[in-house]
Amino acid sequence: MSLIEKLANGSSCRQKIIIAAIDKNNLIGAGDALPWHIPEEYQQFLDFIAGNTVIWGRITWTLFSKIPPSKNNLVLSYEQLYLPGAQVVTSIAEAFRIAETFSQDIFIAGGASVYRQTLHLVDKLYLSVIHGEYSGDVYFPVFDPADWIVETHTAFERYDFLIYKAKSSV
Ligand SMILES: NC(=O)c1ccc[n+]([C@@H]2O[C@H](COP(=O)([O-])OP(=O)(O)OC[C@H]3O[C@@H](n4cnc5c(N)ncnc54)[C@H](OP(=O)(O)O)[C@@H]3O)[C@@H](O)[C@H]2O)c1
Repeated sequence: MSLIEKLANGSSCRQKIIIAAIDKNNLIGAGDALPWHIPEEYQQFLDFIAGNTVIWGRITWTLFSKIPPSKNNLVLSYEQLYLPGAQVVTSIAEAFRIAETFSQDIFIAGGASVYRQTLHLVDKLYLSVIHGEYSGDVYFPVFDPADWIVETHTAFERYDFLIYKAKSSV
């Protein structure tokens, strides 16, 4: 059974989950792009969001050249935009209000601005910690490990995958 199937089997109720890939310095981006090219980690991300609800920042959404496999895509923007494959929402509160009308888990897929605004609101962090140090200028928000419990830690060749559960949601 794959990691994703095991996690799906173990959870019966909808959860709010930040999903991100960081390096050892909490780097997540270089300009509007990812600092690394790790296809197996990117595929894991796509597998997690497939069929689920995802909240995206507008810049992160525009990184995709085709519509991702998530079922409900809520894209944050202060502008009134039309984005094929997505519903545009103008606040975090509106994003969660709509996301909660769906039965699927709610993934928050970044970028940095959206992680910052939702870190205190989520049940879990799904973090891929990429081995090595990269160049870039966009960082995951500082978070206090004391607020989180490590639920699983799986080592892969080029990254470690950790699931943290918020102590506030225990
Ligand atoms: N390593 C990873 O796991 C990962 C994941 C995702 C992204 N990234 C990286 O993160 C970087 C992008 O992050 P970012 O912070 O620059 O951009 P972002 O969070 O993807 O998007 C920012 C935009 O979202 C909209 N927005 C944000 N908060 C809002 C709110 N409360 N209400 C309404 N609209 C809101 C605004 O859009 P408008 O300008 O349209 O108003 C804002 O300009 C890139 O480098 C990307 O590669 C990394």
